[in-house]
Amino acid sequence: MNKSCSIPEWKSGSRSEAAGLRAWKQRMLLAERLDTLEILDRTAPDAETLRRTYWELNELHRWLGNQAAVLRRLREAGVGRESRVLDLGCGQGALLREVNAQLGCSVVGVDLRGGCAEAQVEIVRADAVTDPLPEADVAVCVVMAHHLDPARLQAMIANVARSCETLVLLDLIRHPLPLALFRTFVAPLLSHINAADGETSIRRAYTAREMRAIVEKAVNDCGRPVREVRHNVAWLWLRQVVTVRWG
Ligand SMILES: C[S@@+](CC[C@H](N)C(=O)[O-])C[C@H]1O[C@@H](n2cnc3c(N)ncnc32)[C@H](O)[C@@H]1O
Repeated sequence: MNKSCSIPEWKSGSRSEAAGLRAWKQRMLLAERLDTLEILDRTAPDAETLRRTYWELNELHRWLGNQAAVLRRLREAGVGRESRVLDLGCGQGALLREVNAQLGCSVVGVDLRGGCAEAQVEIVRADAVTDPLPEADVAVCVVMAHHLDPARLQAMIANVARSCETLVLLDLIRHPLPLALFRTFVAPLLSHINAADGETSIRRAYTAREMRAIVEKAVNDCGRPVREVRHNVAWLWLRQVVTVRWG
């Protein structure tokens, strides 16, 4: 029997019953958000491994339509040659290069790891939650939100409100269907880091309902008038995209 599908044995009425049930629900139904660091967060891979991991991640975004979804939101926000786009948790800047090539705007990234020679775009080493952010018209944040607990995600949205007019946030959804699809069709094609981190990321991600609640609270508490908040969930729960436009 597949180990991940077996119902654990536990003693009725004992504390281990509750713990066992919780573990089973987490494994099968993703009822609770996983609080585990990804390989990329807890290790310091060599430069070549890091380059290949971010490159593969960017190819995955292209293939899954994440990149197209972000570009569509940027066009809707009126981004053009005069605009500046900030990417929060930008990795090695692949999305920023694409945004610059497609829309002609200037770009800047922020990442805990800082920049690298291959990036070809400006990347500031900073914590997007707590550090002052570069001024920009639109901030994008792609598969980074699940790295933050609810309080830090809320704080990051408030931080963006201090330096940008619009936020476009794209992330995974914690749901059994994308997890099953990822394991079956995507993970076998990926490097071991992205295969393992992809699964952890889905388990760490927010459900659509959780994301809506966090964004709503962040927007209400940040003290800046808001013109629009939009939350879209893609088919098969492949991604969720939040757009916030401040007044
Ligand atoms: C899964 S990677 C995504 C990279 C890129 N956005 C992409 O989609 O290819 C998450 C990135 O967020 C960065 N990151 C995580 N927490 C951060 C924080 N608080 N501030 C800035 N960057 C952060 C990590 O260093 C990592 O590069």
